Amino acid sequence: MNTAHLYVHSPFCRRKCPYCDFYSVRQADTVDNDARRYYAAVCREWDVRRRTGDMPPPHPAWRTVFFGGGTPSLVPPERLEAVAQAVGMTERAGAARDAFEGTIEINPESLTPEKMSAYRQMGFNRFSVGIQSFHDADLAFLERVHDAEQGRKVVEMLTRQRETEAISVSMDLIYAIPGQTPERWRQTLTQAIDLGVDHISAYGLSYYEGVELTARRDAGDIRPVSDEEDAALFEMAHQLLIEAGYEHYEISNYARPGRRCAHNAAVWRREAYLGLGASAHSCIAGRRWHNPPDWIVYSKGFETGQDTRIFDPEAEAPESIRAERLLLGLRTREGVDLGQWPDPERAQWLQRHGEWIEELIRDGLAQYKEDRLALTWQGWLLYDTILERLI
Ligand SMILES: C[S@@+](CC[C@H](N)C(=O)[O-])C[C@H]1O[C@@H](n2cnc3c(N)ncnc32)[C@H](O)[C@@H]1O
Repeated sequence: MNTAHLYVHSPFCRRKCPYCDFYSVRQADTVDNDARRYYAAVCREWDVRRRTGDMPPPHPAWRTVFFGGGTPSLVPPERLEAVAQAVGMTERAGAARDAFEGTIEINPESLTPEKMSAYRQMGFNRFSVGIQSFHDADLAFLERVHDAEQGRKVVEMLTRQRETEAISVSMDLIYAIPGQTPERWRQTLTQAIDLGVDHISAYGLSYYEGVELTARRDAGDIRPVSDEEDAALFEMAHQLLIEAGYEHYEISNYARPGRRCAHNAAVWRREAYLGLGASAHSCIAGRRWHNPPDWIVYSKGFETGQDTRIFDPEAEAPESIRAERLLLGLRTREGVDLGQWPDPERAQWLQRHGEWIEELIRDGLAQYKEDRLALTWQGWLLYDTILERLI
């Protein structure tokens, strides 16, 4: 059974979204020059990791590869191809979908049929489109480059291709956008369902520290939706998508049967993965590190023979591992596997929280089965509060 997972970060975007706290930089005309330099560094990083054996076993037959961003689809495909070749991803092209999942994040304004065929040759079989909304007013608030019509057209192009090829189509949506009425969210969801995508990620708009949107909120320029409104929108997504045949398999993720994202599911289970590129995180053999969130510092490092990765020993402490298991596991439908916890840690933890967990179960907010503790969808509505108490 193949269990190797790889993430590759593309930092370039045509425009920086005001709500986004992923590492990305605005690039327009010069993207090819910068991309040439950046992806050469990614290939160098790969060589270094391979030489030092910092690989998730068993290399090189990847089970999943995920090119995320930023906007990977902004970059000339030759740059991505150089990485795909170097890491041995192209060898997986044509593998059965349950043996290999290759995902690329796409922005609607930057996908062309030529890029699409290049992606297929590289081995990508899963396309995750950043739609966010099918309403122009929401897209304007989010300062997206594309409009609703462009979003629809790209998804239609992908689903047409799915008629003859074994690919999956996913889309990202955002709810709780100021000004977005429940009716508007319902329409976005209905259009997503009608387009027949395999997978939907529905995120509540988050206000991360240090991003422009949060500064605007703090200055009183925008008013976030209330917790009650947020919960009603979450519930609407849950009801409509379940009714349409999707399974709600993670707090923000829905999939048609057999179409879950295997890459993210592996990360949530805390399996080993290698991350290449600026800001990318890795988790291998109990060690954690990440690359600097600056593509020039990162590239310069590998150009001058320096490895700029930053180790995170705190993340390897038993308390951090326990917290992470809860944080990730309780987001998933399968829940957290307490059987994996060493004793006496597990017994002590259950003793401390057992009564409250029983209360959660009685209230229909959690389930406990075969050593797995999971939240129900009603429990997910209180995820932050529950998690805080359990950690
Ligand atoms: C980092 S983005 C990259 C995808 C792609 N470049 C795009 O812009 O659509 C991944 C996804 O995270 C979600 N996201 C990013 N920031 C968010 C925020 N503050 N609140 C909710 N969702 C967010 C969006 O749905 C987005 O599609």
